[in-house]
Amino acid sequence: MSIDPAITAELAQRPRLRIPAHLGVIMDGNGRWAKARGKRRTEGHIEGVKSLRNLVELCINYGVGHLTVFSFSSENWTRPREEVAFIFNLLRRFVASDLQKLIRNNVRVRIIGTREGLEPSLVRLIDDVEAKTSGNTGLVLVVAFNYGGKAEIAEATRRLAREVAAGRLSPEAITEQTIESALYTAGMPDPDLIIRTSGEQRISNFLLWQAAYSEFVFVDENWPDFDEQSFLRVLEIFSMRDRRFGGIEVARP
Ligand code: IPE
Ligand code: IPE
Ligand code: MG
Repeated sequence: MSIDPAITAELAQRPRLRIPAHLGVIMDGNGRWAKARGKRRTEGHIEGVKSLRNLVELCINYGVGHLTVFSFSSENWTRPREEVAFIFNLLRRFVASDLQKLIRNNVRVRIIGTREGLEPSLVRLIDDVEAKTSGNTGLVLVVAFNYGGKAEIAEATRRLAREVAAGRLSPEAITEQTIESALYTAGMPDPDLIIRTSGEQRISNFLLWQAAYSEFVFVDENWPDFDEQSFLRVLEIFSMRDRRFGGIEVARP
C-alpha cells in the first residue's frame, strides 16, 4: 500500500476539503481481514501495522495535527494469551523498525493508557520513544495502548481526589478543565473526527470524555484495507458535516 501522487494532486484541487486538527482511529477488523483470506489472526495484525504506517504518512502529507490510534484496549486482555503477546511484540517491532523514520519526519510520539500490567522493559521502551521524539514539532502520533476511556477517567479521578485529600484542591474548584488536565490527553485538542473500520458502529471505550463532540464516520473495510482512497472518502464525508456544538449556527470556516 502506498500513497498515490495522482490522488494527492487531485486533493489539492479541492479547497473545500476540511482536515481535522485531531483525528482518532479505531483500527478494527484485523482478525476478520485474516480470516477472509484463510490466514491466522496474527497475520491480520501484521497487515494492520502496514496500514498504520500508511496512515501516518497520509496525516503528515495532508496536515493533520494529532492522530490518535487505538491499538490495544484494556478489554483486549481477555483475548488468548498468544494473541496478546503477539500484539505486544508488534509494538516493540514497530518501534524498532520505524523510530528513526518517525524522528526524520518530525513526528512526536505519545503513548496513552495505563502502564500498569506492562513489563518494565516495555515501559522503558515507551518512555524512550516519547523522550526521543519529544522535541519534534510535526504530527503528534498518539498511540492508545493498554488504554480504556473509563480507566482513564477513573485514574484522573483518583489523582484529583488525592489533591483534595492533601488540601491542595478544593472540591468547588473542580471544573471540566481540571478534569481534562488530569486525563492522559491533557493539552491536546479533542478529536474532531473519529473513524472506525470494519463496519462496527460502537466506541468500545475509546476517548470517552474527549469524543463528546467528535464526528463519527464508520467504514466497512477492515483496517488492513484502509488506504488513501478510504481516507479521502472519509474526509469528504467529514467536510460535509455541520458541527453545531449545541448551538444553532452552522460552523463553517
Ligand atoms: C483490531 O482488530 C486490532 C485490535 C483490537 C488489537 P481485531 O483484532 O479486533 O479484528 P477483528 O475485530 O477480530 O476482526
Ligand atoms: C477496539 O476493537 C479496540 C481496538 C481497535 C484496539 P475491539 O475489536 O476490541 O472492539 P469490540 O470488542 O469489537 O467492541
Ligand atoms: Mg475487533
